[in-house]
Amino acid sequence: MDTIVEVIDEENIDEGALEVLKKAGSIIKDGGLVAFPTETVYGLGGDALNPQSSMKIYAAKGRPSDNPLIVHVADMESIKKIVKEIPDAGYKLAEKYWPGPLTMIMNKSDAVPYETTGGLDTVAIRMPSNKIAAELIRCAGGYIAAPSANISGRPSPTEAKYCVEDLSGRVEMIIDGGAVGIGLESTIIDLTSDVPMILRPGYITKENLTELLGDVSVDKTILDANSKAAPKAPGMKYRHYAPKGDLTIVEGDSQKVAEYINGELKKAKGQGLKTGVIATSESAPLYNADIVKIAGSRDDEEEIAHNLFSILRQFDDEEVNLMFSESFDDTGIGQAIMNRLLKAAGHKVVRV
Ligand code: TXA
Ligand code: MG
Repeated sequence: MDTIVEVIDEENIDEGALEVLKKAGSIIKDGGLVAFPTETVYGLGGDALNPQSSMKIYAAKGRPSDNPLIVHVADMESIKKIVKEIPDAGYKLAEKYWPGPLTMIMNKSDAVPYETTGGLDTVAIRMPSNKIAAELIRCAGGYIAAPSANISGRPSPTEAKYCVEDLSGRVEMIIDGGAVGIGLESTIIDLTSDVPMILRPGYITKENLTELLGDVSVDKTILDANSKAAPKAPGMKYRHYAPKGDLTIVEGDSQKVAEYINGELKKAKGQGLKTGVIATSESAPLYNADIVKIAGSRDDEEEIAHNLFSILRQFDDEEVNLMFSESFDDTGIGQAIMNRLLKAAGHKVVRV
């Protein structure tokens, strides 16, 4: 299939842009697929209430069909049709964080096919704040199922060019709305258990959620790499975000980390490997790698979150074989950063 790429400026959705979004909406209503920007990462969208569309999404992504999709909506009214009931916590969270980078899990109604929820009786729901996404959802009839718009296992796309790389020929349209704002996927919170549980850390932090709801737990498989339990978000069990080369996280005092990494880099160069380091603006000058990428200043978690996936993709483009990354604080947005980084590294961590 030929994939159409259309550019839209989120800050100027004019007549022409609305025409494109109407066309994209019709593609989705007719059972086709459209990749589109959200504030977190790009999504690969299809009609959430059409089982065939969900099957197509799994096929286009190369994703196992037991890994459920998030249903994206544009207003609260739409949610009533797809859930049994909206719990009180759902209203509270929506008031404060929607539209925005938060996904809530509720008990599903019969309107949502099991193909969309990977066979589960619950449904994940998100109301994105990106204006292109919101308008597209309205044009598509109100319910877009959208995983991140990458081939399964690769880093989530933060720019349209990465969607083109992964999905050309696999989707009818890609909407290029520029680089995303946040760069990591939404926080997922399960509201079907007695105590709300975070299933995937993200930009909305545990601290944010606890402040609003009181008691909030965290799926223990997120915190413990060696846990044998199955994560409650089925997607969290898969190796993910993986760059093509080999990535190791090095933890410890910054001087020692640099010494260790430089030692490894020297060996690697002897073997003819192309090397890369993910560093902070403070530490970057310490490294002797072929390519040193600055994720951001150590104090600026938002910037690090914003740059991480794109750096992993750039290392692939530059055909780097061996990579090292510094470790980041595991609090606030740092919890999401470390969650994604650990997965990208296949949990390979060296402590010096
Ligand atoms: O920011 C985001 O959430 C992006 C943008 C496009 O909205 N979407 C995204 O979707 O990250 P995806 O499919 O890559 O990740 C969805 C995660 C998976 O880990 C999946 O297992 C989990 O959500 N999930 C979906 N429905 C669920 C459910 N009913 N119960 C538990 N986990 C669920
Ligand atoms: Mg994903």
